Amino acid sequence: MKKRKIFLSATHVSPSVNKYVSRALSSNELSYYGENIEDFERALKSYLGGNKEVVLLNSGTSAIHLALIQLGVSHGDEVICQTNTFCATANPIKYVGAEPIFVDSEPQTWNICPKHLETAIKNRLEKGRKPKAIIIVHAYGMPAMIDELLMISNKYNIPIIEDAAEALGSSHRGQKCGTFGDYSIISFNGNKVITSSGGGALICNSTEEKENIIYYATQAREAKKFYYHNNIGYNYRMSNLNAGVGLGQMEVLNDYIKKRREINLFYRSVFKDIEGVNVFTENRDYVFSNFWLNCIFFDEKTAPFTKEELLKKFEEENIETKLLWKPMHKQPIYKGSMYFGYGESEKLFSSGLCLPSGSILSEEDLFRIKRTIETI
Ligand SMILES: Cc1ncc(COP(=O)(O)O)c(C=O)c1O
Repeated sequence: MKKRKIFLSATHVSPSVNKYVSRALSSNELSYYGENIEDFERALKSYLGGNKEVVLLNSGTSAIHLALIQLGVSHGDEVICQTNTFCATANPIKYVGAEPIFVDSEPQTWNICPKHLETAIKNRLEKGRKPKAIIIVHAYGMPAMIDELLMISNKYNIPIIEDAAEALGSSHRGQKCGTFGDYSIISFNGNKVITSSGGGALICNSTEEKENIIYYATQAREAKKFYYHNNIGYNYRMSNLNAGVGLGQMEVLNDYIKKRREINLFYRSVFKDIEGVNVFTENRDYVFSNFWLNCIFFDEKTAPFTKEELLKKFEEENIETKLLWKPMHKQPIYKGSMYFGYGESEKLFSSGLCLPSGSILSEEDLFRIKRTIETI
């Protein structure tokens, strides 16, 4: 008989959601207004700090789309984007008719490399094509090289969209990820650190921006007694019911992050004596990762087994694993897009692996994972 499946990052529902979901149901507020939306936005604003404004939306993807619209990115523009990421970071660039310019990772954080970023910007400026925005990502929850990236953004006066979809609770020099960008986004998808049963947030700098984002997220309705539209809007707002799930999950956020960090320590201890298999971890003392996903990286010359052998063993044991992101510039949908880099992200794709990391993992699950690795 097949063993029970262990997932990479399963949804972890907490009893704390019940009261807020019940509140939405009993108040008959299941649409885009209600106390859960207001309270969840307030709770996130306070958690993130930095005097930011938060708008709840129905996904992290729609948050990136609206961030691009806020920055006036449109047909024919160019937007720089980290290549080592999920497609949802890059696809909204296409939604607005712009072109992505992909930039490679550096080996420390696996995120956008400041050097390659500057090369890309200089190249585009020489061609008279100033990029309209830079999308940076904290892949797997690991904070990017924020100091250097902010310096480049300031130097060339190009705004940053910070994709912190995977990095709620991660921080850099004590400041929370999700507060560094001109616009920043978070995802509450079911596989993230906490969920709202699908949803996202767009984080901005002022109440005027917040109002404008809500306007675009609710079909761009003008303040009239009849439906009148000067702009194309979207149906992107989070519902009060989903906000209830997210608000309830805020109460367990720190515990869930603590658990993911313990899982990182668990993998470090399991792989401690296995030469050539390195656990991805923080290597600067001023960063804090939520370890949304724990990853390993193989040095195939010294590792006692290959990535494929470990993958196969996990598959036999019904334990889910995934390769690292296949870089966007190598995806069929982005064939022909511009790319700046030296192949670091391709190296990560060919030699890395994501391992089960959810806060829902039990002691028994961790024991099964450990035994699988030890008996390969
Ligand atoms: C890096 C990254 N960006 C964007 C998204 C999009 O978020 P959502 O699934 O909420 O649309 C995700 C996750 O799904 C992600 O991992």
